[in-house]
Amino acid sequence: MKILIVGSTGLLGSSAAAALRDRHEIIEASRSGQVTVDLTEPDSIRRMFDRVGRVDAVISCTGSVPFKPLAELTVKDFRVGFEDKVLGQVNLVQIGVEYVNDGGSFTLTSGVLAREPILTGVAASLANGALESFVMAAAAELPRRIRINAVSPSVLAEATGYHDYFPGFQQVPAETVGRAYVKSVEGIQTGQTYALDQ
Ligand SMILES: NC(=O)c1ccc[n+]([C@@H]2O[C@H](COP(=O)([O-])OP(=O)(O)OC[C@H]3O[C@@H](n4cnc5c(N)ncnc54)[C@H](OP(=O)(O)O)[C@@H]3O)[C@@H](O)[C@H]2O)c1
Repeated sequence: MKILIVGSTGLLGSSAAAALRDRHEIIEASRSGQVTVDLTEPDSIRRMFDRVGRVDAVISCTGSVPFKPLAELTVKDFRVGFEDKVLGQVNLVQIGVEYVNDGGSFTLTSGVLAREPILTGVAASLANGALESFVMAAAAELPRRIRINAVSPSVLAEATGYHDYFPGFQQVPAETVGRAYVKSVEGIQTGQTYALDQ
């Protein structure tokens, strides 16, 4: 398969690329990558697909959301996080659908904060929950047997800088996360969120 991975240079993106690289053609994209794209800019997404052409699978491992106490979160903070993590990936699906071959797939990335809270994580919880609901509903409307799933990991074992913010949370190895992207791309499921809590 020809697989486009947006955010391939990051921790999750590199876990997806490592798990799929042996058996597939991988195209790596990010704001500073081999193929450049900024998911917050619809025109940039269109330019990326025009350059890359048709693909069998699109994986997104991006999304940045402000972490602040609820009392300090402004409407602008919510909007910035929502536009980056949620609408960035939604735009990728809506623009990308015409470039995905029949029976292909999208795999988005949400995260554990959709189902368990941490202090300062309200905007991230909102974004992750929205993404997972989008995946559930969009699966029913995508054409040509195109599938869509979300990978929703707990904090990664390798993300040591985040561990203090996730006290007592089970940490997930990057290799386990990579396998969830494989399940989404090579499997037959759609509308699913793969919650990786151990
Ligand atoms: N790390 C964890 O433990 C963990 C756990 C659960 C969920 N998640 C979620 O997984 C996602 C990725 O996390 P991560 O830790 O892998 O992040 P990361 O290491 O910071 O990597 C982010 C990747 O996305 C790219 N990127 C960022 N903004 C972009 C944009 N606007 N357009 C295109 N590419 C963009 C970055 O490259 P450029 O800077 O070159 O664009 C990079 O390749 C996030 O949504 C995060 O919330 C992470």
